[in-house]
Amino acid sequence: MASYVLAIDQGTTGTTVLVLDRRLSPRARVNQEFRQIFPKPGWVEHDLEDIWGSTVSTVQRALREAGIRGSDVAAVGITNQRETTALWERRSSRPVAHAIVWQDRRTTDACAQLRSAGHEPLVRERTGLVLDPYFSATKLRWLLDNTKGARQKAEAGALAFGTIDSFLVWRLTGGAAHVTDVSNASRTLLMDLRERRWDRELLDLFGVPPNVLPEIRASSEVYGTTRGVKVLPDGIPVAGMAGDQQAALFGQACFRPGEAKCTYGTGAFLLQNVGPEPVMSSRGLLTTVAWTVGGETAYALEGSSFIAGAAVQWLRDGLGLIARAPDVEALAKQVKSTGELVFVPALAGLGAPHWRPEARGLIAGIDRGTTAAHLARATLEGIAFLIHDLAEAMRAEAGKPFPVFKVDGGASQNDLLMQFQADLLEVPVERPRMIETTALGAAFLAGLAVGFWKDREEIRRAWQVGKRFEPKMKPVEREQHVAKWRKAVQGA
Ligand code: G3P
Repeated sequence: MASYVLAIDQGTTGTTVLVLDRRLSPRARVNQEFRQIFPKPGWVEHDLEDIWGSTVSTVQRALREAGIRGSDVAAVGITNQRETTALWERRSSRPVAHAIVWQDRRTTDACAQLRSAGHEPLVRERTGLVLDPYFSATKLRWLLDNTKGARQKAEAGALAFGTIDSFLVWRLTGGAAHVTDVSNASRTLLMDLRERRWDRELLDLFGVPPNVLPEIRASSEVYGTTRGVKVLPDGIPVAGMAGDQQAALFGQACFRPGEAKCTYGTGAFLLQNVGPEPVMSSRGLLTTVAWTVGGETAYALEGSSFIAGAAVQWLRDGLGLIARAPDVEALAKQVKSTGELVFVPALAGLGAPHWRPEARGLIAGIDRGTTAAHLARATLEGIAFLIHDLAEAMRAEAGKPFPVFKVDGGASQNDLLMQFQADLLEVPVERPRMIETTALGAAFLAGLAVGFWKDREEIRRAWQVGKRFEPKMKPVEREQHVAKWRKAVQGA
């Protein structure tokens, strides 16, 4: 029997492939960044062929690094940047346009119009989301209305829509499966959150023809088998799918209601398992499906911040202050504090709990003594403040504090950021030994479906703390920090 599970984590700025053995030890981990396309201010696109190319080449490199053959793979799991909207031709599998990335703000006006026409209460109630350009529906309408011939072809059944999970499973199965999992479907603004089906009224509201839609399936089941993929033999089951944040919640073993994690990727996403019934938020948090596994669905509350690691990338690529993202920590450590400097990294609007798509970044308190080191430190602090705002809203919603704050994702490796986060939240921050929890979650969902692992308790048993950050900051100092932030964020 094949002895490995392969997980594809198709993220916003890169694709990661993880090969896991039965004891949950990674045998290989390969990452590749791919092209980001910024056609206009506020617009972000991906070429689906770049995404597919990076997937194929990372799978190939991961197999090589693990020293195994494709036939040693028992199942493939997929996890993905959510909401990013893809449209392709069923016959040729060719994209009809670039995918519109979740960060893209081009449909801000369309959302404002729907809000002023009074549709927000229905949308919130039915989907658990808000009318923001973040989600797929208005992006899909934009593609249908602005790509020549697309609406006509869509109505004739010639086009397929999907988030990146759908696109990858389509390509991996040679076009045999047009499916999405329920966690990804819950991010489109088109799914009824309680029924977990596409909703006729929402499809009409957003002008989406039903025949472009994928079928909604569970997060752990066989969707199809590989066919015609250059780097894998035919016949391997593709057996697990979840949006990356939900997969990370699974990979962090947050199976009980109340358990939560925060992933620091391009953006940062705080999710709390709320159990088998959705909990609606009155504080700007989202309600979303965590997963459906073994016939049981879990829901989550989510706080989404559009920017986390992306602020550090901006220091690197936009300003040229650092050569590599991890260098930000050494630069920030050159100063003991930011002085008066506050950076609100609202580089793609403000997400939860503010929901201000028109907001932009703001740097306040610059004086002649301000250096690159101050800005680096203020960037890390700004990321932590955005998360603090999410956590405050979630704590208020749940009516109780988090016992610990579990973290993961690339930027969680930054000790200075994690310490500041613990100080602001006044709870210990725990970083697991294995921070690839997103890919781990996807691998596990796939492995469960084919009987490679017995039950989810195996993840809980394997979960180990890598480093714990205890809050140390004095309360007065903390309050001063928070007060400065509150003032600044209003101006963004
Ligand atoms: O909702 C967007 C999210 O899924 C993107 O995650 O890790 O690619 O920043 P990431």
